[in-house]
Amino acid sequence: MCCTQFFRPVCIFDSGIGGINLLVACARMCPHTDFIYFADNFNVPYGSLPPERIRENVFAVFERIATFDPASAIVACNTATAVCIDDLRKKYTFPIVGIQPAVRQGIKVAGKCLVLATPATANSPSFARLCRLYGQGRVEVVAPPFLASYIEDNIFSYPDIDIAAQLPACSPGSVVLGCTHYVFAEEQIKNFYLCPVFDGILGTADHLKLLLSTEPTFGFRKRKIAFLGGDFQKNEKVFRLLVGKSGTI
Ligand code: DGL
Repeated sequence: MCCTQFFRPVCIFDSGIGGINLLVACARMCPHTDFIYFADNFNVPYGSLPPERIRENVFAVFERIATFDPASAIVACNTATAVCIDDLRKKYTFPIVGIQPAVRQGIKVAGKCLVLATPATANSPSFARLCRLYGQGRVEVVAPPFLASYIEDNIFSYPDIDIAAQLPACSPGSVVLGCTHYVFAEEQIKNFYLCPVFDGILGTADHLKLLLSTEPTFGFRKRKIAFLGGDFQKNEKVFRLLVGKSGTI
């Protein structure tokens, strides 16, 4: 694929399908922007890899992203944000937005919250910092070790996938989804805990919109959305599924 087919696209990256939730929200909020979705599906779950491996994989994808002269890149993966967003921002000059667990919202609404994250996010210094800043000592974090790969592997059986066995038994005031893969199971998680659930998707898409507000737009041309890297055909199919479910982009 040639980079001149795109006009300063926004490149969205996740290990696998999780970030497609964010792609859909961003595409709706920024109707004239070109998007390229990059994933690394064959290396999911990132959350079970050591930080050095995650960093290596993410930088390999970003080398490719940089060739598209993006208006911005979004790390739609809480795990990659936690492990290496600071290093990415040091290396690349384009703006990089990262999704992070919405701890602040979870605490604000309920006073205490359960964060469901990946093991790598849960063990990261950056998540510890987030909890110190906004958690007021009221955050419980649980990292179900197989949940992200289960969702990645069974997405086309949705909604008949049963994740209840992987959820910790407790009564949280709110639940924060600290992994974009878990967003696919948001309804089930809500029904399981019967409390508000936050995913950070709209907040991150809002951030992008603000960032792009000074970029020129070209409303007269049909914008492009493309999928590269990993199992790009699967990613496109998941995108079509999500868009088909809730109207057009
Ligand atoms: N979707 C990614 C996140 O938000 C992680 C999934 C994985 O472990 O690969 O953390």
